[in-house]
Amino acid sequence: MAKYNVLVLGSGGREHALAWSLSRSPLLGKLYISPGNPGTAALGDNVDIQPAADAPPGPEAWFEAIDSFLREKEIALTVVGPEQPLVDGITDYLEARGHKVFGPSKAAAQLEGSKTFAKWLMHKYEIPTAESIEFSGEAALHDLEAWLSMENENWPVVIKADGLAAGKGVFISHNRAESLDHINRIRGDAELRKAAGKIIVEEFMEGEEASVFAITDGRNARLLLSAQDHKRIGEGDTGLNTGGMGAYGPAPVIGERMLRLVEDTILYPTLGAMQLEGHAYRGVLYLGLMITDEGPKVVEYNCRFGDPECQVLLPAMKSDLLELMLATVNFELEKTEVSMSDDHFCCVVMASGGYPEAYAKGMEISGLDKVSGEALVFHSGTRSSDGKLLTNGGRVLSVVAHGADLKSAIDNCYREVDKISFENAYHRRDIGAKGLKRSG
Ligand code: AMP
Ligand code: GLY
Repeated sequence: MAKYNVLVLGSGGREHALAWSLSRSPLLGKLYISPGNPGTAALGDNVDIQPAADAPPGPEAWFEAIDSFLREKEIALTVVGPEQPLVDGITDYLEARGHKVFGPSKAAAQLEGSKTFAKWLMHKYEIPTAESIEFSGEAALHDLEAWLSMENENWPVVIKADGLAAGKGVFISHNRAESLDHINRIRGDAELRKAAGKIIVEEFMEGEEASVFAITDGRNARLLLSAQDHKRIGEGDTGLNTGGMGAYGPAPVIGERMLRLVEDTILYPTLGAMQLEGHAYRGVLYLGLMITDEGPKVVEYNCRFGDPECQVLLPAMKSDLLELMLATVNFELEKTEVSMSDDHFCCVVMASGGYPEAYAKGMEISGLDKVSGEALVFHSGTRSSDGKLLTNGGRVLSVVAHGADLKSAIDNCYREVDKISFENAYHRRDIGAKGLKRSG
């Protein structure tokens, strides 16, 4: 059987889950992760691919270093975890040099990288989403302020700065005064001001949020899993936004009928639209949805696996991830089937106390040896030192368990979480609670 060497780019829980899933494939030759983390070190070789010391700034020097690595190690497939390199064009750069990359091109990654592009596409192809107006140019903020003061009658509105703003660029304004305050916050933040050359104002969609993940080679797609993330730090979805404090799947809010609607009204129309625009989308497409009374609508697209959704999605997948990824990059997805577990999966993120604001690092983690073999622990922010495992980030570990129903998946997950400790550890106790309410 042919074996394929693979490079995974990234260092979080998502990338640990990718490395874990790839390492189970009989097709895998050698696995490299750059930079990886102590969790991925147990599955393959962690390497830290860096641009040459005298290279000019910008992503190309790093891409060049990756190109050399791929040739030296005879890598058959590069899997890009996070969005930034995709938006910067890593796929185009490496493909132009003969490599296979799982992840969309720069133009296709605009679905995540540019909210104005995504909105324009959805409006043009009548893909269900919130109504919106765009303001652009130097006077964008000024024009927006005037529009909100004089013309808008429907509150709340959602104000979004274009570009990747690490979740900071979205404001929900309930009235005029609040919207002016939000505009001033954008003016006062250098990074947001940069993104504010293009601003979108959206209708506020009422409903429950959930996401659907699909893998696609541009023409064919395979649904993977529906899931629900928990973005806020506090229980009951309160407090500051985070990268994600836990996830579960499948999401009961997306039943069979809803899933068909998502496929027919959102997934395939999006792939068709991208093809027609000359930007065929290849990789994993993350549909961030609002399930409204009028059906599913797009909140956002992402061009990569979610973190922590990936940590439930991949354990729930019975198919060979490497085989699916190779089929994707070779435009052969049509020949494959995806098989998912009938079980339910839950992931609880253990974080450093204080996250997403200031937090301490370097706390010793204990109890991992007591975790059941039925559960999985993916590393997000850890480092090893003298044989000890230490915390090294805001989100530290993703603990994943499954069960025949959502309740047992959640119970099984928290049983394992309670065995793990480090100083000042924090996690939400209500991961999956919304799903339980719905599934009764
Ligand atoms: P985004 O970065 O576009 O995903 O927005 C971040 C979060 O803001 C989403 O996960 C939603 O919770 C919320 N949000 C964004 N747009 C809307 C909208 N049009 N209606 C309601 N909530 C929204
Ligand atoms: N969990 C949210 C994200 O990956 O964007």
